[in-house]
Amino acid sequence: MTKITLENISHSYDGGKTWAISDINLIFESGRRYALLGPSGCGKTTMLKIICGALRPTKGKIYFDDVDVTDYPPEKRSVAIVFQFPVVYRMSVLNNLLFPLMNVNIPKAEKLKKARHIAEMLGIDNLLDRPAHRLGLADKQRVSIGRALVRDVDVILLDEPMSSIEPDKRYELKRLLIEVSKDMKRTMIFVTHDQTEALTFGEKIAVMSPNGRLLQFGTFEEIYHSPAHEFVGFFIGFPGMNIIEGKVVEGGVDLGPFKLILKEKKLPLRVGEEVKIGIRPEHIRIALSQTEGYVPFDIVYAEDLGRRSMILHLRNEEVLLKARISKEVSGISKVWVKIPEEYIVFFDKSGRRVA
Ligand SMILES: Nc1ncnc2c1ncn2[C@@H]1O[C@H](COP(=O)(O)OP(=O)(O)OP(=O)(O)O)[C@@H](O)[C@H]1O
Ligand SMILES: [Mg+2]
Repeated sequence: MTKITLENISHSYDGGKTWAISDINLIFESGRRYALLGPSGCGKTTMLKIICGALRPTKGKIYFDDVDVTDYPPEKRSVAIVFQFPVVYRMSVLNNLLFPLMNVNIPKAEKLKKARHIAEMLGIDNLLDRPAHRLGLADKQRVSIGRALVRDVDVILLDEPMSSIEPDKRYELKRLLIEVSKDMKRTMIFVTHDQTEALTFGEKIAVMSPNGRLLQFGTFEEIYHSPAHEFVGFFIGFPGMNIIEGKVVEGGVDLGPFKLILKEKKLPLRVGEEVKIGIRPEHIRIALSQTEGYVPFDIVYAEDLGRRSMILHLRNEEVLLKARISKEVSGISKVWVKIPEEYIVFFDKSGRRVA
């Protein structure tokens, strides 16, 4: 078991002209499961490479427990990594699983026992004699994962391991990885750009910005209810949070065509300052006729999700909103909208949450 600490980690591939990741401070506790979530190019793979030792960070330090491993090569760290596309050798599944144990000083019988145990856990014990390179993609990835698990490593890094797996087999493999992490008490970091994968796998999720900064590290609940940055609000959710720009006025926020009156919340901003409000589509209240305290919006487009669920794309002058409703509406072009104060979060001009 290993606790991993990243301390002020930054990395540049071009001698400091641009930064793939910047100022990352993170602690991955021993034996827990984490997801690293962010859009393409935000530096997820860079971070994994730094953790496994394939890349030395331009700045900062990395610790395994209390040991500074920043200058350790991968073989001096107890880490295995599984890539997006399965890597298997042109040999039998069994020999693939035995390969990482080649230089491990234990009896052959014990190596075989380990390989068989892992194969059973992964459901590939019936394939042990088959040539690994002739298997389907999902089974190949199981072999890849098996090769990572067979070693007695403390840390397992998974870089989008599901993207080469057929969608109907992803759930099963993910469940298996969760079991493995519990049984074997390994620290696991799972990279993905898919929030559903992140929330089902990670006990805690690290959300990165497109430009390689860590925006938030927390449980899915924390990230969903209290996004630390407007990007997190927007990136998480089905669909993501509505972000509307406005200006602070006495007693509320001027959103352009209408004013939002705040009865409870006090903003740490001055009258006249720019503010952005964040409201989740599922928290918007909709009325089908004029209602006190509601604002009229035109329906631009109604997206039917089936099972009595819809996303209404709404517009009132320059204010665009998505509202998720659990009823079907048809043949209407207008609704009345209320943005409930208790669900609103506020971001400053820079996107940081202020209330
Ligand atoms: N070997 C490299 N040389 C130069 N730039 C690189 C190299 N590897 C990555 N980058 C750049 O660093 C940034 C982060 O890349 P990285 O591959 O870590 O992102 P990622 O989050 O894993 O993306 P994806 O989701 O597409 O896999 C990107 O701008 C990328 O172009
Ligand atoms: Mg990547």
